[in-house]
Amino acid sequence: MRLDLMTWPEVEAYLKTSKTVVVPVGSTEQHGPTGVMGTDIICPEIIAKTATEIDPFLITPPLPFGQAQHHLDFAGTIALRPSTLIATVQDVVASLSHHGFQRIYFFNGHGGNTATLEAAMAECYGAFSLRGEACPYRLKVRNWWELPGIFELCKRLFPRGHGGHGAPSELSVTHYAYDEAMRRDKPEPKIAPFGHDYGDACSFRAAYPDGRAGADPTLATKALGEQLVHQSAQALVRELQAFSA
Ligand code: NI
Repeated sequence: MRLDLMTWPEVEAYLKTSKTVVVPVGSTEQHGPTGVMGTDIICPEIIAKTATEIDPFLITPPLPFGQAQHHLDFAGTIALRPSTLIATVQDVVASLSHHGFQRIYFFNGHGGNTATLEAAMAECYGAFSLRGEACPYRLKVRNWWELPGIFELCKRLFPRGHGGHGAPSELSVTHYAYDEAMRRDKPEPKIAPFGHDYGDACSFRAAYPDGRAGADPTLATKALGEQLVHQSAQALVRELQAFSA
């Protein structure tokens, strides 16, 4: 169930049946010469939409911007400061909690967001803990590739050239979601350099000149994307059921 396609009376009715809501979080950032800018939004969004067809959890529109300062030397990247992302998450949680949601699950598509989302969660809980009050809700942050079994699946599908950024797993998912996300160019070198600190935007571009880190994007296919989306969606449903209980 998509919040953006519901009316407020429908949301009110949903709250009588469930207190759980999924908030996809992404980033608008370069993904190498063949990966689209919305990769980190598209991945959690398509997996969450597939999951809600299995079990009708409520999903909000995705947060499209994240902590992506290290990608800013590539055209099109839009970065939030960590403090901006933390404030945004706090306001989203306060809004959803105000309506009575008690299980708020942030489903993340960008590794650079992880630490900031965890800090945002601590800010939300801390506002209650430091006053000696019990927090009325539970939060969870989950990266889609860290759902149970999915990282192992990625390693099995891409034993060489998975890498860390512009990876064939995330590109496969975008190919499955959108035909127009597919590119057939073959970047050189086939497997990008890997292993340097990401650092700031200048040092990232120096270490990773075409934007990829360790990845061979030519391994990405629509069929592998379908497999990744469906297995991730099943894992997400199981996790949401446990989180809601
Ligand atoms: Ni990504």
